[in-house]
Amino acid sequence: SLIGPFTAHADARTMTAQVRQSVTEALAAALRERGRASLAVSGGSTPKALYEALSAAPLDWASVTVVLVDERWVDPGLAGSNETFVRKTLLQGPAAAARFVGLKTPDPTPQAGRDEAERRVAAVPRPFDLAILGLGPDGHTASWFPHAAGLQEAIAARGPLTAAITARQSEVTGPFTERLTLTRAALADARRLILLIKGEDKRRAFETAQGPGRVEDMPVRALIRDERARLETHWCP
Ligand code: 6PG
Repeated sequence: SLIGPFTAHADARTMTAQVRQSVTEALAAALRERGRASLAVSGGSTPKALYEALSAAPLDWASVTVVLVDERWVDPGLAGSNETFVRKTLLQGPAAAARFVGLKTPDPTPQAGRDEAERRVAAVPRPFDLAILGLGPDGHTASWFPHAAGLQEAIAARGPLTAAITARQSEVTGPFTERLTLTRAALADARRLILLIKGEDKRRAFETAQGPGRVEDMPVRALIRDERARLETHWCP
């Protein structure tokens, strides 16, 4: 199947411990083999404990590049900033030495900041070694929101690495409808794509996404249906 392995964990602690171990080993292997490693990271609530645990990993973090998967159009330091979230959770202790690539620019809109963000991301060697993704109950991953303006560019198989998104406001987006996101072209060929999902509603969303239906309705399907995407899914209640 194109879906790849699915692991159901007993609880969030077990999931965090196992994924931390496996991400640490993959980063260590990349550092050994290529002398550098890259890790693309999402925001959201599920990966918080993982990022905190990873930050203590004994790795040559100075040779690791951490790149954001997506960003809300707010300045670092403000509520909702994924950059701030990642700095406070992952880029602490030994991991503070990592090179960080954020997506927010001083421009007023993600559309205006896109070129600068594209240059930043294009400077990171690809494919990424790892990308950590989440899933919303609406079937979004990264900032690929259903029927958002910019979605077609975000889920295109080839093309730019970044896309500006204006999502329809929903419970899931909150006030943060303006986003800048990595695209399927940037993410699908990652050496490992780790999808972290927590809770019954998202497990149902993941199951629904595997069935028939339009990609625009559940954009995670753009990865599920991409034969390049080496997806591995971890779930906990
Ligand atoms: C964001 C995220 C987003 C996230 C999902 C899942 O900033 O909105 O990067 O794509 O991965 O919304 O979020 P949870 O981890 O809260 O389930």
